[in-house]
Amino acid sequence: MNVEMRELLEFYTASGVDCAMEDVPQDRFAESAAAAKTRKSPAVAKTPASKNAPQASATSHAQGPTTRSGFAEAPARPAQMAARVPNEEVIASAREQAANAETLDDLKSALQKFEGCNLKNYAKNTVFADGNPEAKVMIIGEAPGRDEDIQGLPFVGRSGQLLDRMFASIGLDRTSFYISNVIPWRPPGNRTPTPAETELCRPFIERQIELVNPDLLVFVGSSSAKTLTGSSEGIMRSRGRWTTYQCNSRDIPAMPIFHPAYLLRQPAQKRLAWQDLLTIKRKLAELS
Ligand code: URA
Repeated sequence: MNVEMRELLEFYTASGVDCAMEDVPQDRFAESAAAAKTRKSPAVAKTPASKNAPQASATSHAQGPTTRSGFAEAPARPAQMAARVPNEEVIASAREQAANAETLDDLKSALQKFEGCNLKNYAKNTVFADGNPEAKVMIIGEAPGRDEDIQGLPFVGRSGQLLDRMFASIGLDRTSFYISNVIPWRPPGNRTPTPAETELCRPFIERQIELVNPDLLVFVGSSSAKTLTGSSEGIMRSRGRWTTYQCNSRDIPAMPIFHPAYLLRQPAQKRLAWQDLLTIKRKLAELS
């Protein structure tokens, strides 16, 4: 590998690009030219398609894009690889599939079959949950990272190991808590999930909470707290304060805490995280 190539790869890695989106390079210029041609000849474009059918690339792959030198001809994407624009219909189907799940196993297989969220196209695994579904405590993070995607389990990377040590300090481990994420698929390059992706995944995590029916919820980081409580408060204000999560007309006590990834960057904040853990420990003692 020459120096320029190595430096380019190092730059990509430093920028957070750590996964390839496609197996072969694709000529997007040829794709958009083909799409423009299709738009000019409506007779060709009138292929019947459902509202949720594959968007841009399906049309252009169907036209057989001309290859330019250096580019392999893009293989037609299988249906489940086609990007979908999340719309009300897809969100309604997510709600229906989540609601139909009567057990956690049903819910896991519904998620594994769900094709409405584009994040799944780039993820290696559906990261459903870990820990004890009978536990009183349910911990919810934002989305899996690289290690979680590889292993198919939540919070197993560096920040997950810190989270385990944090909960071990108040006597809890994966036999005494259940742990999951709002989003079950790793966003490429660990980018922040879009609001549309979050809305698509929300029915599944809400159903998961219903099925686990915990006595106490812990939101790890502001993102899961905001998604599940509807609050817009940042973690600096919300951490360590009890809020409630409404589940089947029951109020479950819930507390946002600092994300361990933040604590790895700001170890001085572990002092506050420790106070929050003690508050959780006291609440658990009260509840039992
Ligand atoms: N961060 C999260 O929010 N969830 C994980 O599973 C891992 C890292």
